[in-house]
Formats: sequence, structure tokens, C-alpha cells
Amino acid sequence: MRSFSGRDILSLKGFEREEYFRVFQVAEALAPIARDRRNTDLLASKTLVTAFYQPSTRTRLATEAAMHRLGGHVTGFSDAKMTRAGDFYQESIKDTVHMLEFYGDVIAMRHFQQGAPAEAARWSSVPVINCGDGWGEHPTQVLTDMYTILKEKGRLDGLTFLLIGDMRMRTMHSISYAMSQFDIQAAYVSPPDMSLTDEFKKELDGLNLRYREVEHVEQAIAEADVLYMEPVVQPDYTKSRDERSGDVGMTPANYQVTRALMRKAKPDSIILHSLPRMDELLEEVDYTRHARYWGEAFNGVVLRMALLALVLGKME
Ligand code: CP
Repeated sequence: MRSFSGRDILSLKGFEREEYFRVFQVAEALAPIARDRRNTDLLASKTLVTAFYQPSTRTRLATEAAMHRLGGHVTGFSDAKMTRAGDFYQESIKDTVHMLEFYGDVIAMRHFQQGAPAEAARWSSVPVINCGDGWGEHPTQVLTDMYTILKEKGRLDGLTFLLIGDMRMRTMHSISYAMSQFDIQAAYVSPPDMSLTDEFKKELDGLNLRYREVEHVEQAIAEADVLYMEPVVQPDYTKSRDERSGDVGMTPANYQVTRALMRKAKPDSIILHSLPRMDELLEEVDYTRHARYWGEAFNGVVLRMALLALVLGKME
């Protein structure tokens, strides 16, 4: 297995099966710190720089919380408008990163341009963690998802996933790469204009992922162990900020998960959603035995504690 020390976490493409298990093992070792609501000193000599060019509630705050739990320091920005990258100068990723690399020991970046964290990593002497890049990928979210599934189901091999929503979404790319490392079968259901691209399907074929596309949720719900959801009423992820204006439309019933639909699901199936949600996941589902998306708030901190400890070389 490759060492994590000093490594960028940019994509789950090429992230190997053993590496998932190593990250989950470290997460389990560090979880008691977060569970007891303690802070330790494992990363007391380290600083995290958060560079968020797009809004975030979960990813930025969970990464910062993880650093605090490990006794580290945090600096950064959550709105690029307050930096030179977001004003008259439109400062480049390269020039910005040549500064940030001396302000801390690891950079967590979210950006509206696909590939921006990879561009940052080209110029950075410290590890860069991709916290979501345009429609590209969202590795830390999907590592959290897979960790949650492992904890809930006790295994990753032998499961069937039903993926519902906008397949252009960065989580859908990362989870597809993740599924390909395990004995997982996938069924994708999306509106036709949000389906898997031919180019991405070619990639999935090359990865030997066993998947099918279905038109209706009802065609796959009965076999699913995991329902993995994203909205179909979405902002434009290529923009630094997409405000809601006027009527944004409702989610068609075929891409909605309701209490009534879950009566057709396996009794022990679980639902994950990276959040935030629109009306594709009704609040009534929160009170069913299937909902696991709130538990991801805790797991998201623990998982990022593991990643930070690994890339900063404090766990091997
Ligand atoms: N899951 C997720 O990426 O949420 P945020 O956009 O709030 O970070």
C-alpha cells in the first residue's frame, strides 16, 4: 500500500481497496476522541488551511472540527470574495497556493472549477485535499459514505446500491470509483438530461463496475441494500455561488424517496444523502429505520481526523 504521508487526496480514481480499509481503521482508532467530545494533541504542531471558493456547511466545518479534535490549528477563507482571487485581481490558483503553502501544513480546497485542487497540488509543497471541485469529485464525502456503510452493514462486498439523482454530481463520480474497488452492484436512476455521460460509462466499463441504468426507482428498490441520493433540483456547481431565484421546480416523483416507497425496500436497507437536500428526500423519511444521513455528521468528522492524521504523517 502506498504511504499516505505527504499525499494529496484529489480523487478516488485509483484509490485502492486496502487504502479504504486503512483509512477506516485509523478512523475507528480516533473515533473515541470525537465520541467523548475531547480534543487531543496529535496534530498540535500542525495547521490546516481551508481554501473554500464555494459555499459549504458540512465539508469545511467537519474538516476544521477534525483538526480541532486533534489539537491542530486552522486558518483560511470560506468566501473567495474576501481574497485577491475573488476581487479585481482574480489571483490564480498557482499564485494563491504559493502563499497558502507557507501558512500551514495541509490545504483543504473546494472550488467551482473541476481540477482546481489538482492544479493547486501541482504547485503546493504541502498536501492538498479536494473538498469538492465543480462537477468533478468529492473524495472526503464519499470516504465518509463508505465508512458509514461499512459500519452500518458490517461489509462493503456483496452489497447492491441504488443511486438516485443527478449523475453529473461530483459525489456520483467519486462513489462510482469507490464501488469499483468492492464487489458492489449498482443501479443508477436519473432524469435523462442528468444521466451518466458516455465518457464516464466507458471509464466505469474499464473499471469492471457491475452496473445498470434503470428508468424507474421501482425497478431496483427491492434489491437495494444502500440508497444513495443527490438532488435533481440543483445549483450550477461550476459557479462560485448560485443563488436561488424564483421558482426552482419540484422533484419528479421518480427521483423522490418517500415513506411509501420505502415500504417496497429491504427492511434493513439504508439511505445516505450527502446533503443539503431539496424535496427529493422528504422529512417523513427522517423518522424511518432507513435514514443514516444524520449519522454522517459524526462520521464525517472522524473520517477527516483520520485523513489529516495520515497525510500529515502522524499515523502510518
Ligand atoms: N456534503 C457536502 O458537501 O455538504 P456541504 O456542501 O455543506 O459541504
